[in-house]
Amino acid sequence: MLVAGNDVVTAPPPPRRALILDDEADFAASLSDILEDAGYLTCVINSVDDVVEDLADFNADVTLVDVRLRDASGIDAIEALQALWPHSEAIVMTGYATVENAIAAIHKGAYDYLRKPFHAEELKAVLNRCFEKIELRRDKRAANEKLRTALDRAELANRAKSEFLANMSHEVRTPLNVILGYSEVIKDQHFGPLHPEKYVEYAKDIHESGAFVLSLVNDVLDMAAIESGQSEIKESSVEIEAIVDFCFRMLKGRAESFKLKLMKEIAQGIPDLRADERMVKQMLLNLLSNAVKFTPEGGRIGVVVTLADDGDLVIAVADNGVGIAEEDQQKILEPFTVGEDALTRSADGAGLGLALTKSMMEMHDGTLELRSNIDVGTVVTLRFPKSRLEN
Ligand SMILES: Nc1ncnc2c1ncn2[C@@H]1O[C@H](COP(=O)(O)OP(=O)(O)O)[C@@H](O)[C@H]1O
Ligand SMILES: [Mg+2]
Repeated sequence: MLVAGNDVVTAPPPPRRALILDDEADFAASLSDILEDAGYLTCVINSVDDVVEDLADFNADVTLVDVRLRDASGIDAIEALQALWPHSEAIVMTGYATVENAIAAIHKGAYDYLRKPFHAEELKAVLNRCFEKIELRRDKRAANEKLRTALDRAELANRAKSEFLANMSHEVRTPLNVILGYSEVIKDQHFGPLHPEKYVEYAKDIHESGAFVLSLVNDVLDMAAIESGQSEIKESSVEIEAIVDFCFRMLKGRAESFKLKLMKEIAQGIPDLRADERMVKQMLLNLLSNAVKFTPEGGRIGVVVTLADDGDLVIAVADNGVGIAEEDQQKILEPFTVGEDALTRSADGAGLGLALTKSMMEMHDGTLELRSNIDVGTVVTLRFPKSRLEN
């Protein structure tokens, strides 16, 4: 679009370019005249031998080809022209005797045929139809091109974001460890008692907050690594029940203070899992800490481990907590999203837990599925393929 003064002017469409190949020179010239009068740019050749590299610059949109040339088959000529201009369309010109040739040409990809003698209006009508197709295709190519550029840019930006997050997180971890280390020394009163006593409380708060920020930073770092494809799984043999017990120990304090009951149900004879142990721990901890966070006092939280009918290993984490609204269920699986209520109820959590867990499951060729009802509860199911089970 060009802007002239206050008017917005659309750029005129490029002239239509037609190549004419016919060994009857007079006929070819008269076609050229008709088309030039109608605003076309034309180029006339009288033999297949004229189809040479130098011609390529003409950039024909359409080629008008006589199928019955003295020295060669028009079909070969069409192929040669199409090789020069892959986006061009061919229209075949034929006499009564050679209609079959024309039909063969159409089978080979020619757009249409004109039977000689034809009227100028007939020629223009066929060309107009043909150009409708060409222009549609050209628009589509331009749109695709734009999309591809946008996609390239988005991918580049996304990579830059992941790298930035990874670097940032590293930088933040160093001072955080200083905060954690010294606040621990102070809260434990390593070098003698603190006065007044209040300072011990403060040091505890500093230490707890620091630990929380560290866990957030670690999540961001993990997410960035996964998104930029730098994360790999380190496989070993993992005993699921041991992981469940480990997570329960980690969450025992919080569960008890909210009077939440933690239960596990592990089917007999569950084989070990070939997986990244740290990730399995982290996934289960993410799900269980959500359950603890979003279940009101007195609630119940359960982990059920079973083998599905098809042999897959299924780990379900269920709670009878606040639940997640239907319309949020898809969204919260994306990185950095938290439920509406979660924001008002508690500000902790960057909204990465579920997204990370889902990505980690995918790295294990598994799936994460979420089912939830408001005020009834939530079940998150992790499914590992049976190929990951050790016999
Ligand atoms: N067991 C659950 N019960 C209710 N809501 C949940 C549960 N698990 C997750 N959610 C919702 O999904 C959101 C995203 O969870 P998550 O990705 O773990 O991030 P975060 O825990 O940092 O908020 C939570 O903020 C919450 O709204
Ligand atoms: Mg969470």
